[in-house]
Formats: sequence, structure tokens, C-alpha cells
Amino acid sequence: MKAAEGSRTAVLVCQGRAAADGLAESGRFTDPVAIRLLRDDERRAVERVRGGEPPTRWVERVDHESVRACAAVMVLRTVAIDDALRERLTPQVVLLGAGLDARAWRLPELADRAVFEVDHPDSQRDKRARLAGLPEGVQAVRAAEPVRFVPVDLTHERLDTALAAAGHRADLPTTWVWEGVVPYLTRHEVARTVAAIAALSSPGTRLIVNYQALRPSIVAGQLLAKLLQTLARRRSLWANEPWRSYWTARRLGALLGRHGFTVVADEDLLAVATRLALATARRASLRSGRIAVADRPGRTGSTQV
Ligand SMILES: C[S@@+](CC[C@H](N)C(=O)[O-])C[C@H]1O[C@@H](n2cnc3c(N)ncnc32)[C@H](O)[C@@H]1O
Repeated sequence: MKAAEGSRTAVLVCQGRAAADGLAESGRFTDPVAIRLLRDDERRAVERVRGGEPPTRWVERVDHESVRACAAVMVLRTVAIDDALRERLTPQVVLLGAGLDARAWRLPELADRAVFEVDHPDSQRDKRARLAGLPEGVQAVRAAEPVRFVPVDLTHERLDTALAAAGHRADLPTTWVWEGVVPYLTRHEVARTVAAIAALSSPGTRLIVNYQALRPSIVAGQLLAKLLQTLARRRSLWANEPWRSYWTARRLGALLGRHGFTVVADEDLLAVATRLALATARRASLRSGRIAVADRPGRTGSTQV
């Protein structure tokens, strides 16, 4: 990320979750907090998607289609990650590049866990301003264990000292959720972050990584989106947050293996859709987004911090 503003991609994925809230056929996806984290102008596209009425002005249609496409991806991505998170509930959870993720407020299982939100300082500042507007009832969910905010630019700042200063304990199991962030880092930055995570991961730790595989459909989709945004005189969504790395399952698995993690699952979002029997369009683009789950062998966590 470059400019001193919040993450626009974090806003888009939040819009996607808000648009999909409660609408997945299986009833498996709800995120009532997402809409509350959006500003009025960001909510408008969400409301249109939920209403099922595309705007007639094509400039607005560009935003509409971005949110609609994002919603379909977010259902799959979020459900798969929530399941992997619940499967191994550890005393500590670190959301890396948390953006406007509402997990800490949304998942009852996390209410008594130590949750650390790591993010780029600019994005985190933006999120904290938005959180101040949450109704008291939602904020109360974290009354016993307030979320610990840890501003870190993963391109060059140290994760270990920042997390330790926030109270993270490397001797207790952690579940790391690294969702929608890997593409914005170079290969070197990803490897450096995995090394930092590994050094803070006791036995029983789980790392859940969402990453992108390079596929023609995703490159074509991004090019089309950039073209439409230019024609609509919108600043490109990726202007400040260009994609910098793609990974194969093999290459990422090898990196995780070198750092003492065993990959227990790695699937693309189309496979997630099939496994969960969730209806989906845009099948080709779903093959690019992948989720790997990797464990540090050892005890599973049940103690509290
Ligand atoms: C697409 S958003 C995903 C947010 C969140 N994980 C989610 O799924 O809702 C990308 C996130 O990556 C974060 N990010 C990008 N570059 C970063 C960096 N160099 N250091 C820390 N976070 C970064 C952004 O701040 C943003 O929150």
C-alpha cells in the first residue's frame, strides 16, 4: 500500500460480505456487522446488489458489478476460513491484514479469545474510526477481551516485536488468518512474513492462508475491471494496492514446510463451493483463489491467555 488512506480493497471485500449477508442459499453465511463498517456512499452499492436491481447508468453499474462479483467470492472464502478457524480453536487468533474483517465481533467462538488485528497502519486507523460507529450492543461482544490492534507494514516492519508488545505469547498456540493479503506482497515479503509467523508459532498452531494462483481468467478479469474503472473515470481499485505475487500450491506448501508447517488442506474456491454445495457463477475465476490450512504438529489449544 502507498498512500495514507484506508485500504480500498478492504472496503470492497467488506461491501461483498455486506451484500451477501444472509443471502447464501444454504444459510451458512451471515455477516451483519459488515454493513455497519461502511460509510453511506459505500453502502449504496451494497443496497442495490441486495435489492437485485442493477442501476441503469453504466458508471454506477461498474461499482454494482464489482460488489456483486465480490459477494460471491466472499461467501466461499469466509465460510471456508471460518470452518478452518473453528476446527482448531486456539487461545490466540491473529488476523493478518485484517482490513474491515468483522470476525472478532461476528463469531461467538472468538468472544473469549485474545484476538490481534495486524494491519497496515493507514488501514488500521481507518478501521478504528469506523469501529467507533458500531452500536454499543455490537461493541459489547468484545467487552471481556477487547481486540488488540497492532499496526505493522508487512513490507518492512517487524511482526514479532509489535505482536509481543501487544501481549501475544509465542509459547501458546495461535490461529493465524491471512486472508486476501498475500497478493499485495512480493514473494520475498511473503517468505519473510511466513518466517516471522513460524518464529511465533508454538505446537498446536494453525495457519490459514488465502492466496492467488496465476490463471488466465483472473488476469483477464482484472484487466477488464481496470478498463471499466478507467472508462467510468474511477480511480483503479488496485492503484495503491497492486497485486505483486501469485503462488502455486506446491510452491506455497514448500515454503510452509520449510518453516515447520504441515499443509493439511489446500483447495481452490470452486472446490470449496462444490464441497459446501453452494451454488455459484463465475466458475473460472473461482479457480484462482485458494485457501491453504497448515498446522504445527503438537497439542491443540484450549487454554486461555
Ligand atoms: C483485500 S483487503 C483484505 C482484508 C481482510 N483480510 C479481509 O479479508 O476482509 C487487503 C488487506 O491487506 C492489507 N495490506 C496490504 N498491504 C499490506 C502491508 N504491506 N502490510 C500490512 N497489511 C497490508 C490492507 O491494509 C488490507 O487490510
